[in-house]
Amino acid sequence: SARAQEAATRFPFTPIAAQTDFQVHVPEGYVHDILVSWGDPLFDGVQAFDHATGGAAADSDRVFGENTDGMETFVIGAHQIMAVNNEYVNPEINLPQTADGTPASAEDVRKLQNLQGVTVMEIVEGPEGWAPVKGSRFNRRLHHNAPMTIAGPAAGHALLQTEVDPEGLNVLGTMGNCGAGKTPWGTYLTCEENFNGYFGASDGLGGEATVQAGYKRYGIHEQGQYGYEAFDPRFDVSKTPNEPHRFGWVVEIDPTNPDSTPVKRTALGRFKHENAEVTLAPDGRVVVYLGDDERGEFLYRFVSDAPYVPGEDTAHLLNEGTLYVAKFHDDQSGEWLAMTPETTGMELAEMLIFARTAASKLGATTMDRPEWIAVNPNAVEAYCCLTNNKNRGLKTNAGGDATPVGGPNPREANKFGQIVRWYPAGDDHAADGFQWDLYVMAGNPETEEGAYAGSPNVTAGNMFNSPDGMAFDSAGLLWIQTDGEDSNEGEFAGMGNNQQLAGNPVTGEIARFLTAPNGAEVTGLCWSADRRTMFVGIQHPGGHWPGKEGDLPRSSIITVKRADGALVG
Ligand code: FEO
Ligand code: CA
Ligand code: CA
Ligand code: CA
Repeated sequence: SARAQEAATRFPFTPIAAQTDFQVHVPEGYVHDILVSWGDPLFDGVQAFDHATGGAAADSDRVFGENTDGMETFVIGAHQIMAVNNEYVNPEINLPQTADGTPASAEDVRKLQNLQGVTVMEIVEGPEGWAPVKGSRFNRRLHHNAPMTIAGPAAGHALLQTEVDPEGLNVLGTMGNCGAGKTPWGTYLTCEENFNGYFGASDGLGGEATVQAGYKRYGIHEQGQYGYEAFDPRFDVSKTPNEPHRFGWVVEIDPTNPDSTPVKRTALGRFKHENAEVTLAPDGRVVVYLGDDERGEFLYRFVSDAPYVPGEDTAHLLNEGTLYVAKFHDDQSGEWLAMTPETTGMELAEMLIFARTAASKLGATTMDRPEWIAVNPNAVEAYCCLTNNKNRGLKTNAGGDATPVGGPNPREANKFGQIVRWYPAGDDHAADGFQWDLYVMAGNPETEEGAYAGSPNVTAGNMFNSPDGMAFDSAGLLWIQTDGEDSNEGEFAGMGNNQQLAGNPVTGEIARFLTAPNGAEVTGLCWSADRRTMFVGIQHPGGHWPGKEGDLPRSSIITVKRADGALVG
């Protein structure tokens, strides 16, 4: 069409139409393939994936995990290493022998625990395309029982102590690993999001008033989501009341050192972390933008005390600094409110452990579910996906603050989502003030009117809902991935399956690049060292993708290349 041709002059690809099938689609001139799927062996001696069993329980800590999400690539000498999150499980698929995915034994629970967390793996491109290097010394599975340490101001606090870890310094596992981040010193940041669902209570939600208030604000219920608590007392808060406090953190992993122990960085606060977008202030201090993905929760920023100095020790950088929370004003100004014992009236460690409660005391702006944040490499500005919010105007589910319509959250029945952008004062990401606008307000210009039709850069040809994953490429294009309603009906008609779009940050133009199989969300994006391959995550696909009729659907990372071998970002 004329529209597609016009857009093609401004994007390095011809935009594709919305799709409703169970396949992946990419533009003409591009090819895609599978890098790795849930259950693929990462170590020698592991059997190939078996669709009848969902993979052997005994091998479940030596295969690629389930539900791929945030990821980053690292170069070590001649090796390319990928660190990638395995966010959660689809138990009815992972345990196909059970009636409904409810674990029937400790072995079932262990299998689910093994399939999640983080995968670190060497990858290589050969004549048959990209694949993990089976048995590479870099390969690791950092699952729900992998040893980690706790660092920063909350490390060792009484609220982090348990019977098996009386010092409150050593925790098993990372969970709910959603988005990711990468530091300038070459480490991987994995973000613990929906940790609450792994916990249940066999004998009531006990504990002191502050602990009980925390359970409420963070969504710990008597009924766990995965049935862990029936077989693993660590996840039964009636028995281990402090265990939930040991999750909800950002965890730093050195993918270049297979012997290194991951470190939970408590200075970055405890909430349902989406991703951790790292940039540097002009003076070299480390700035980390952080979203808390819950209706009516907040947007945060961490600023280190010390500057990053290449070649010097970096262990202290994410331990010593200040956490801030965002307040947006209706006049399109905003400010970062410092969270300190003085401003919140809370002791430092407790303020970080219950960061949501602390931020409420400062009157921060309740947001429409902050998902990924991305910093533009070519301009001093940052973007955050506010994915959707069916509760705007009501109290939140989690016992939080009132959520009035206004500022960057302008719609009450926000089914479509928007992307807010802010411009730090003085071109300094560590500054206290900023200006903001909306880069895009998703909507349906065909079926809706007014604000629900979307902003002018939303057209019949690029409609989408629920922006979630987001990253800039080195050329300055903003890639947007969606996790939304893919019925293609009603107010979602014309949007089709979840998708990946490219946005021009200067003109605001947006074009559809890739569509996922129906049922899937698109989440996780990074590039090979030579930027000739784009890695894209396909999470919870429907149908039997990427296999044949009768196969279990398998979350997978795909590779996208140009057929002519040119750069893809
Ligand atoms: Fe795991 Fe908010 O997405
Ligand atoms: Ca997400
Ligand atoms: Ca989402
Ligand atoms: Ca997801």
